[in-house]
Amino acid sequence: MKLCLKGAKQIVQVVDNGRQFLTGDAMKRLAIMEAVEAASGLSIVVDEHGNIKDLGPDAEIENRYAKSSFERVLDVTGKTIVPGLVDAHTHPVWAGDRVHEFAMKLAGASYMEVHEAGGGINFTVERTKAASEDELLGLLMRRLRRMLSAGTTTVECKSGYGLEASTEIKMLTVLEKAKKNLPIEISSTFLGAHSVPKDKSAEEATKDVIENQLPQIANLVAKGTLQVENVDVFCEKGVFDVDQTRRILQAARNFGFKINFHGEELCQLNSPEICSREFGCEAISHLEEVSKEGIEAMSEVGTVAVILPTTAYILRLKPPPVRQMIDQGVIVALGTDFNPNAFCLSMPAVMHLAAVNLKMSLAEALVASTINSAHSIGRSKTHGSIEKGKVADLLVLDAPKWEHLIYQLAGHDDVIEYVIKKGQVVVERSKSVLV
Ligand code: NIG
Ligand code: FE
Repeated sequence: MKLCLKGAKQIVQVVDNGRQFLTGDAMKRLAIMEAVEAASGLSIVVDEHGNIKDLGPDAEIENRYAKSSFERVLDVTGKTIVPGLVDAHTHPVWAGDRVHEFAMKLAGASYMEVHEAGGGINFTVERTKAASEDELLGLLMRRLRRMLSAGTTTVECKSGYGLEASTEIKMLTVLEKAKKNLPIEISSTFLGAHSVPKDKSAEEATKDVIENQLPQIANLVAKGTLQVENVDVFCEKGVFDVDQTRRILQAARNFGFKINFHGEELCQLNSPEICSREFGCEAISHLEEVSKEGIEAMSEVGTVAVILPTTAYILRLKPPPVRQMIDQGVIVALGTDFNPNAFCLSMPAVMHLAAVNLKMSLAEALVASTINSAHSIGRSKTHGSIEKGKVADLLVLDAPKWEHLIYQLAGHDDVIEYVIKKGQVVVERSKSVLV
């Protein structure tokens, strides 16, 4: 066997009945195994493939596996184990920074004012186009290592700072290289429709995505050169309108991609009610401005709402109506939205913001960062909870209760003792990141 953890005080399984997402009141009820006596604890056994073989009281596990040998045994007496975190929305491949815009926004400029003045996404596009694959890979690896040390074991990663085929493919290729170099698991998303490039109208850009970029990417996926799972569009007033978004999403569906698009961030365009029903979208992100009808549609279709608390915080936007979404049965997930506008790599910080600013309970924030975020990228059969047969993505917390992970604002480096990916220890607090 690969690994045995023993002596844990608590194992937060999140779900223990094979459920692949939680909604409504069920988000408040985490499946938690507690050690019954102070003198004994709980164990987890991981098999040679990196999957969870068994879990339960130390004495029972010791009996059942008396004849087995383990590559590594970790004594985690008095500590807590939670699933590895799944970050449902990031833009991590880019060069340069936008620190100057941070100051402008603090002084009162809106996100769209900066964007319309040629800054924002198009500023980053210039820097990303000019950067070599190696430079981008170095920047990306550094960011992914920081995510791992903050407890993220699986992450959705977008392209979107190329806006033309060759740079978009360069970004997706860099993601493929990172998959081979680091133990963090990546779900890649093509976001060629992230902004309208300087030399095109929105209509011309839409045509280019549909007729040129998407077919090239689908071809590379078919050849096995790229593994791209999702397609995204920034559907927003002044970027891609709902009709352009629908045409891109239809083309994406025709190639068999999953859909997770940026909707209702700054304006209400009714994109969730139109697109959820028309395409059965797997996920829609942001939703600060979502309408009542949009919430109803997402709930009926089962589209995951990927909520990004950093955006509303940094841009001082109206927060997304998460409480209404949960009450209406929408599947709610969380992501960092890491990008040059929202520079946050830490899911514990995001859960903290979700709890304080969006009024999510601590349990809801953890569900949204594990089983529900895994569901948003089609991985909740295998990831997002601590159950027999699932991938052993685990965090060992040096704390007597799991809530310490969210309680400390930006304190993950003190709380997370081990990050385990597929049964392999990849971050050890005493030694920092191992990979
Ligand atoms: O999700 N809103 C669009 N895309 C990103 C921001 C990207 C950027 O500003 O570079 C977001 O917040
Ligand atoms: Fe985003």
